This record gives sequence, C-alpha cells and structure tokens, in this order.
Amino acid sequence: MGAPLFPQHVIARKRDGHELSRDELAAFVRGATDGSWADYQLSAMLMAIFLRGMTPQETAHYTAAMLHSGVVADLSSVKQPRADKHSTGGVGDKVSLHLAPMVAACGVAVPMISGRGLGHTGGTLDKLESIPGFNVNLSLAQYRRQVADIGLCLIGQTAELAPADRKLYALRDVTGTVECIPLICASILSKKLAEGTQVLVADVKYGRGAFMPEKARARELATALVRVAQAMGTPTRAVLTSMEQPLGRAIGNALEVRESIDCLQGHGPADTMEVTFALGEQMLLLAGAAKTAAEARRQLEQSLGNGAAREKFRAMIQAQGGNGAVIENPDLLPQARIRRPVASPANGFVQDVDPMAVAMAVLRLGGGRTNAEAAIDPAVGISDLVKVGEPVEAGAPLAVIHANDEAAAEEARAMLARAIVVGDSLVEPSALLGEMIS
Ligand code: URA
Repeated sequence: MGAPLFPQHVIARKRDGHELSRDELAAFVRGATDGSWADYQLSAMLMAIFLRGMTPQETAHYTAAMLHSGVVADLSSVKQPRADKHSTGGVGDKVSLHLAPMVAACGVAVPMISGRGLGHTGGTLDKLESIPGFNVNLSLAQYRRQVADIGLCLIGQTAELAPADRKLYALRDVTGTVECIPLICASILSKKLAEGTQVLVADVKYGRGAFMPEKARARELATALVRVAQAMGTPTRAVLTSMEQPLGRAIGNALEVRESIDCLQGHGPADTMEVTFALGEQMLLLAGAAKTAAEARRQLEQSLGNGAAREKFRAMIQAQGGNGAVIENPDLLPQARIRRPVASPANGFVQDVDPMAVAMAVLRLGGGRTNAEAAIDPAVGISDLVKVGEPVEAGAPLAVIHANDEAAAEEARAMLARAIVVGDSLVEPSALLGEMIS
C-alpha cells in the first residue's frame, strides 16, 4: 500500500501539468464515489483536467476507474453476440428506437442503457416513455433476463452503474467543465461499457445541431472513444454524421416514436434510414454477424421486409409494460390538441432548416427540458418538416406544429418561420455521413 493520496496533492499535480498515475486517478474517482473528496475538491480537479487535458494513457486509466466505480452487468448468460450504439445526440435523432430492434432481429442482442434529453437534444428514454405503460426503470436483474429472453432491452442508468459519473457529471454541468474530450469520453464509455455490450458503435455528430459543432472536435472525440474503448477490450467504431439540419421529419417525443414505427414499417425518411443502415452495418460487422457491409445491409433490410424488426420492437414494448398496439395504431400515442401548419412564404426551394432553432421551438412547446428535473409534454413537437433542397409552393406547409397551448403554438410558429429559409436557388444538403474511425 503506497502513501495516502491527498486530494490537494493530486489536484496540484494536475494543475501543474503532470501526467497522473493510475492510482492518482483511481483516488479521484473513489473520492467522487464514496464522498471522501469534497465537492469543491472534485470541482477543482475537474477544472484542472479541463485546462490541462489528459494523455491517452490517463484517459484510459480514468475511464477504467469510472467504469469500475459501480457494477458491470454480467450478460454471459446471453447466447447471441451483443452490440450497442451510442449517439452524442442531436435534433430528431430517434435512430436507437428502430435500429435496436432491427439489429436484434438479425440475431445480435442489444443491451442498451440510454439517457434523457437535456437542453436542445432529445433523449431515448423520454421518447420511449411516451408509449403508454412503457417502463424504463428496470432493475439490473430484470434487464439481464430480458436481454437473454428477447435479445433487446432499453433502460435508464441504474444507481449501480458508473455512480462516479453520476456525481461528476452533475458537477461538470454547473462548473463549466462539460466540453472536455477526456471527461466526455470517460463519461460516455463508463456507462456504455457497464451495460455489458461486447462491441460498440458510436454516432458522433457534428454541425449546428450537435453537442460538438466543429467537425475537427467531433473527430477528436470519436478517435478518443475508439482508442479508449479498444484499449479496454471492447471493439469499437465511430461514424461521424452531420447534424446541420434535424434528422427525419419529426421532432418531439411521441412524434419521433411514430416516425420510428414508420421506419420499422419500411417507410422511414431517407436521411434517417441512411444513418440507421450505416450504424447497423457496423454493429453487425463488429459483432461478427456479417462479413461485409453489403451482407449486413441485406440482413437489416430483410428484418424490415419480413416484419421481424417490428415484432422485436413489439416484444420489447410488451416486456417493459407498454402497449404494443401502438405499432398498428400510432394514434394510441399521446396527441396534442392544437395542430398548426407553418406556411411557406414563397415558391422556391428549402435553403436551410436551422436545427438549433427547431429544437428551441420544441422546447418552447414543452417537449424538452431546461433542467434535469423538469417535466416534459410527450405529445408536442413538430411533424412533416421539410428538408433542405426540397421544392415548396407559397402557402404550402413547411412543417406542422403540435401544441397544447395557444401562445406556445404561435411562438413556435414564428420561430419555425425564421428557422426555415425558402429561396430561389436549388441547394444540395450537406453530406450526412462523414468518415468512419476504426
Ligand atoms: N454525454 C455523456 O454521457 N457524458 C458527457 O460528458 C457528455 C455527453
């Protein structure tokens, strides 16, 4: 046993730009988990890391310590290979909802622990909870059983998984230390690797609607995620995808579930399906369920064509207490009282759809959160949203607003009228898929 590592000494070493040892990083994470470091010491350390950065070796040690601050789910009883995906989040990103059952229908189990929406990005758990009865709060034992039984389970983070991240993320949120690649990398991977997946595909978004708008920074994060996860024994790839306009045509919790059901029925929006197939192919390849991307694509298409993915989705909904009939009858999902079209001001082509402005309109409608405890309205949002490059006629709808409040509907309409630009020139949307990091 070495000399005790006092918080102030470890903080000072990082402050002065030294590379911290595995033991020093473990002491910091232990301090966050058992409360032996005060919040001001944890916060000082986070700021020192933010300002000084971390070497790849430090990031790996820190991630391992975060992962082992809690339980790592043992899914060895699951017979199939296991794969998961993580998205850094965007506007209208509902891909997990239909991708997970598609991959599960191809014989690869998907144990997925997801988060809630905060700020401008939506959260998979909030979307699923718009399905009447759906329970995202399963115990780890229930989660393990369901992955073994149907090859698919989608839940929220439990208290046992990566508790250090829970503590440190809350502090980062209020100390200006969120936007730091080593901290983000450890935060994401400690939760994802605790869920018991064998391989991981990360969708790292860049562009105006992304958590990390600059492509170079998104690439840096993708590289760190891949490098650290691989060093920890989890084969991982990252795909960079653009978030320069919302994904799909629906934004808002129940409306996105409805669009995911469309995807499972084989008529999802082209951009949403492009991202879905790109990620799904990598999941099947990494899990060893396909030898080539073309073969993986065929399997995924087949899962849609023969209804197997849709049935997996139903099995998951029912296993988690939800009403599976939403698949045939999406009108069972919560619906807003007011529908208000946003009319095009002119004939022309859609030049731009600003994803942040669209997200702010959904927030104004009550469909998102401004703090972690805020309630959301699952029914509200935007549907039938036009895409960049599409032709439009004067007076035709550019989008439909779903609201439960007159004043909010009117404000959201004005916000969308500014967010969607119509003009004469024929514009090409920017490419959706960037490079893959493996
Ligand atoms: N998502 C996470 O889980 N953690 C971060 O630090 C940032 C995004």
